[in-house]
Amino acid sequence: MAFKKVCSLDEVPEGDALRVELFDEPIALFNLDGEILATQDRCTHGDWSLADGFLENGVIECTLHWGKFCVRTGKVKAPPACAALTVYPVKVEGNDVYVDFE
Ligand code: FES
Repeated sequence: MAFKKVCSLDEVPEGDALRVELFDEPIALFNLDGEILATQDRCTHGDWSLADGFLENGVIECTLHWGKFCVRTGKVKAPPACAALTVYPVKVEGNDVYVDFE
């Protein structure tokens, strides 16, 4: 495990998402009722940011073709996406959010 600080907790409001970069890789952070989750930011269907999508009930909807993914497991919830997202371990210490990218 090699957690790296990516942002402050208050940068990811409840029900919202934030795109950050970690080792030049875009990561999407999601705040589900105070729980922070992290996935790859790039949609597996195309080159599109999922942090810009619509988050509802733990599912992120890509705004390019409306594919959907569970942000907790990365599993596809709606086509045309067909490959799961990579998910990353997250820890929060105080107001700092860390992601394990390895
Ligand atoms: Fe996300 Fe097509 S790019 S569903």
